[in-house]
Amino acid sequence: MSSYPDVRLRRFRRTAPLRALVRETHLALDQFVMPLFVAPDGLRNEELPGMSRYTVDELLHEVEELVRAGVQSVILFGIPSEKDEQATGAWEDDGIVQQALRALRPRFPELVLMTDVCLCEYTSHGHCGVIVDGEVHNDQSVELLARTALSHVEAGADVVAPSDMMDGRVAGIREALDDRGCESTPILAYSAKYASAFYGPFRETADSTPSFGDRRGYQMDPANVREALRECELDLDEGADALMIKPALPYLDVIRAVREAFDVPIAAYNVSGEYAMVKAAARAGWLDERTAALESLTAIKRAGADLILSYWTKDLAQWL
Ligand code: PBG
Repeated sequence: MSSYPDVRLRRFRRTAPLRALVRETHLALDQFVMPLFVAPDGLRNEELPGMSRYTVDELLHEVEELVRAGVQSVILFGIPSEKDEQATGAWEDDGIVQQALRALRPRFPELVLMTDVCLCEYTSHGHCGVIVDGEVHNDQSVELLARTALSHVEAGADVVAPSDMMDGRVAGIREALDDRGCESTPILAYSAKYASAFYGPFRETADSTPSFGDRRGYQMDPANVREALRECELDLDEGADALMIKPALPYLDVIRAVREAFDVPIAAYNVSGEYAMVKAAARAGWLDERTAALESLTAIKRAGADLILSYWTKDLAQWL
């Protein structure tokens, strides 16, 4: 009784309810996070709606729609009116993300407000840290990142997510938060963030393409998985509450390895390039967007992610 013709796996595939009974992986909207870009000038993106920029007023309207549709969590990215060497727009009290948080917080008390903590959208050169002698200076960058995270929390953020890949940033942020009585705010660390080609559409939207060099001096080499586990371990030692792997779809093996190694919440970032590829292929008539998106997101969950950051979150609210 252990093989064909006694065993027929097709029996449980016959009808939709039979398949549902034995389904191993489920997508639930409450584990999805919608990325949103806030900027001094709004910019709709018709081809890639997830890449649109919103003014603070437009953002309120968009979030209203998301919340009404059942979305429970968003992550904010900011594009400042001016960029400089010190990424002032990232950490100043009146920065664009801080303004957005102050506007959103009282109106949506239940919504989880996450923020991306990085300097690349705010530096004149587009790197994720401060440049000293032609290189991104680790420890000076950590100082500004900690200041940024603290200002986000003081403006109303529930969760801060550092995405810069400097060494020691989680410890720096944890200390800065705890010193100011923000010991209850969790840190979701972009622990295994790879130097990836799949961030292209994001960088267009955030206007954060490095003006010289690339990010391989701080983001991870796509060839490495053992190193990802070290990054995760160090971030947990420094006080990270949850880990993130990014991108998601080309790195399912990394998600799986991290899932097996650590019993902490794991996030995966279904990045702009993953979203854009499916959108472009669907536009060309080569595949169906909804089916391909649901399959991609299911694969990311199956690999071991608990929560997923995805530009399809708004659509998912309709699809699920
Ligand atoms: C900031 C940051 C980036 C993304 C998230 N946070 C860009 C980058 O590292 O160049 C990319 C997200 C996406 O592509 O959707 N450092």
